[in-house]
Amino acid sequence: SGEEIIVKPVAGRIGAEISGIKLSEALDAQTLLIIKEALLKHKVIFFREQNHLDDKEQEAFAKLFGNPVVHPTVPVKNGTNYILELNSDHGGRANSWHTDVTFEAAYPKFSILRGVTIPEAGGDTVWANTATAYENLPEELRNLADQLWAVHTNEYDYAAQRTNISNEAIKRYQEVFTSTIYETEHPVVHVHPETGERHLLLGHFVKKFVGLSSSDSAQLFNILQQHVIQLENTVRWKWSAGDVVVWDNRATQHYAVNDYDQAKRVVRRVTIDGDIPVSIGG
Ligand code: SIN
Repeated sequence: SGEEIIVKPVAGRIGAEISGIKLSEALDAQTLLIIKEALLKHKVIFFREQNHLDDKEQEAFAKLFGNPVVHPTVPVKNGTNYILELNSDHGGRANSWHTDVTFEAAYPKFSILRGVTIPEAGGDTVWANTATAYENLPEELRNLADQLWAVHTNEYDYAAQRTNISNEAIKRYQEVFTSTIYETEHPVVHVHPETGERHLLLGHFVKKFVGLSSSDSAQLFNILQQHVIQLENTVRWKWSAGDVVVWDNRATQHYAVNDYDQAKRVVRRVTIDGDIPVSIGG
């Protein structure tokens, strides 16, 4: 289109808005490079006003980042190959801090999320930078985290904090999300395969730490997780329909704010195949 591409940070430690790109157009190599560099640097990137994009085009855009994978338990949206639809009317309110699908050994490396129906007010999403969370730990806690491994499972997926939707919707949602139980172990500190940065790998799929009791695990989890979600590590996005957000799932956690009661919110996500995380010991 010839428009100038601008990458503008949104918060101090995470997030950048990219303007001047229409995502459904065939993107040239130079443009793609700008997008990928911004994604690794800022960890989550935001594109406004992509209302023209349909499901097929979202899938095509997602493929620029790698191989799309379907969610292990949730069926894809009808008529699509890879799209996971999160619909608030069906209980799709991800208001718990998490990294996507970490209950799998190799979990997705990127997620591409598109706003389809957005409430008039509320329904923002917040992302946290898990590298600055690690860097800013006091040395004693960093040394402790370096040694730890965590058990991740989908057993309690999204079950915790739902208050304003029907029991029926909760039940239906849980049935889909936890129809098969997955469990895997990940290092609590992993080395990013592309940037070499160290990250805390936690989030709500963590059931316990290897070698610790459930109660010790819960307390230690809270200490570490509080460092991740410290406001200084976060960026908050106020959606408009047609916005497209891409995040590095190896470098972030996110939380969908559930403050819109009965208003409708629909977002559609494609995730990209990732690797088994590598600990600092290799
Ligand atoms: C997700 O958890 O991937 C969806 C986040 C959102 O609904 O904003």
